[in-house]
Amino acid sequence: MNPVSMNVVPRHVAIIMDGNGRWATQRGQPRLYGHEAGVRATRAVVRACRDAGVSVLTLYAFSSENWFRPAAEVGFLLELFVRTMGVELDTLHAEGVRVRFIGDRARLPQTLTAVMEASERRTADNPGMVLVIALGYGGRQDLVQGVRALGRRIEAATLRAEEITEADLGATLALGDLPDPDLLIRTGGEYRISNFLLWHLAYAELYFCDTLWPDFGPAELSSALAWYGGRERRFGRTEPPSSGAMMEPADDQ
Ligand code: IPE
Ligand code: IPE
Ligand code: MG
Repeated sequence: MNPVSMNVVPRHVAIIMDGNGRWATQRGQPRLYGHEAGVRATRAVVRACRDAGVSVLTLYAFSSENWFRPAAEVGFLLELFVRTMGVELDTLHAEGVRVRFIGDRARLPQTLTAVMEASERRTADNPGMVLVIALGYGGRQDLVQGVRALGRRIEAATLRAEEITEADLGATLALGDLPDPDLLIRTGGEYRISNFLLWHLAYAELYFCDTLWPDFGPAELSSALAWYGGRERRFGRTEPPSSGAMMEPADDQ
């Protein structure tokens, strides 16, 4: 095995699932039709990631900016999430998947937060892949709530500003207890982050493809994983870290 393929399976894959609306429009259908198709793609990709040995999969399902879409589309998406979790939870649980949600729940309807909490509770002790669903999530909002949490500790005199480390801030953020994404996939042809995991993507490998999300399946995922396997991850050094291909920058800065 050559050195670059040592990191063959990313521990953590994050996906910006984009292109549902355009997929539907291309078919002369309303955008909502694309979101339904997007759910089918998601189901297959979750399973394919699990089968590939990915430990954490984070899916961007609804951003903090998606609230600015027309109310009818927002309402449809929120209902779709409730419906989808209702249909999928038994299977996810049987497959040993641990479901978690990140994002601001305050604006979400109670019907949805109830399903989210029930899903998290039921799968909390599962041993398999962690499936993180970002819903109402924004990277900047995540950072703001993290800074506030540190600020409260300073106000309580349990922390001094000069002592704050990267690890301290990282621990206050969503996903603080999980490894950073190794691979970010964005479908739909746009080359941007759209306020996804701003802090956590610092050293992720970025994979952009034109495929619209409803057309992204296990074969496209395999291509992305194969591409990832060929990356040389140097983390700012001149050579990849020798033993741990997963090694990350030091925490103590
Ligand atoms: C992604 O697809 C799904 C969500 C943002 C909820 P879009 O709805 O953004 O589809 P396009 O980008 O308009 O095609
Ligand atoms: C990003 O897609 C958010 C999700 C996939 C949930 P958007 O379609 O909202 O992003 P922009 O508007 O193209 O940046
Ligand atoms: Mg989009």
